[in-house]
Amino acid sequence: MHNFLPFAYFQNQFLPFNEAKISIATHALHYGTGAFGGLRAIPDPQKPEQILLFRLDRHCQRLSSSAKLLQYDLPADKIEKIIVDFVQKNQIDKSCYIRPFVYNSGLGISPRLHKIEKDFFVYGLELGDYLSPEGVSCRISSWYRQEDRSLPLRGKISGAYITSSLAKTEAVESGFDEAILLNTQGKISEASGMNVFIVRGGKLITPGFNQDILEGITRDSIITIAKDLGIETIERPVDRTELLIADEVFLSGTAAKISPVKKLESYELPKTRPITNQLQEKLVAITENREPEYKDWVYAIPKEG
Ligand SMILES: Cc1ncc(COP(=O)(O)O)c(C=O)c1O
Repeated sequence: MHNFLPFAYFQNQFLPFNEAKISIATHALHYGTGAFGGLRAIPDPQKPEQILLFRLDRHCQRLSSSAKLLQYDLPADKIEKIIVDFVQKNQIDKSCYIRPFVYNSGLGISPRLHKIEKDFFVYGLELGDYLSPEGVSCRISSWYRQEDRSLPLRGKISGAYITSSLAKTEAVESGFDEAILLNTQGKISEASGMNVFIVRGGKLITPGFNQDILEGITRDSIITIAKDLGIETIERPVDRTELLIADEVFLSGTAAKISPVKKLESYELPKTRPITNQLQEKLVAITENREPEYKDWVYAIPKEG
């Protein structure tokens, strides 16, 4: 059961979540011609009268770019303002996940992006841990991550998530928590909704942007935090065997935060994870606005508008 926030933003206005409804003939429903964002909103542990959003500007920029790929001109600052109003309207007082969505809202049966109505909505739900922060088991999926030449992977295009759904279900139904997908070159790409990092010899290694990954905002944050902690990150193709012999492996994402991988296929991974723990601790402190040097990454919204 999901606890949805009481108000949604839909068709240029705020209205009760249950009244935000679309037609069964909506283009995006049939063809996946939508794109979404996802960000967490948490009550400020130090100042309960405000809500904190992590890297709001980056999330809005990425959604604006996704919209552009769908031929929809939706500036990042407009998205940002609506999300801020959304947080205030809902008087959020628990950890939530905010889901903004841009899509072909017009009706019609021809797959296309041109000459079709677009819209933008936002809704939210309460969300605790998406994956266990103690560690997850992963399998290598039999499904491959798509390639940018057939699908714009730099956008969070809704239709693309059929592959994530197939991979996640395959993993869970075969007894694992999560799936790691290879790209069509046979290199590690990412998990169903997270980027992948490994630690070898004290260095972080993660597949680069040329490995068909989503440009994760948590990934970007981790690379910066690691640099500030004096840990080098190498962005390069990663083979599956490297995961099996890595000192540490973890997944990163807005929903998953930093989730250590404890088991991969039938291989147990090391239980001691000094670098993952260090990054996990720092990331939590930053998102809770306890790290003044990173205050630009945290957007504080007073509860009263
Ligand atoms: C396919 C995919 N990869 C990676 C990520 C991680 O991205 P971020 O850290 O921006 O949430 C997500 C989640 O948004 C995702 O859906």
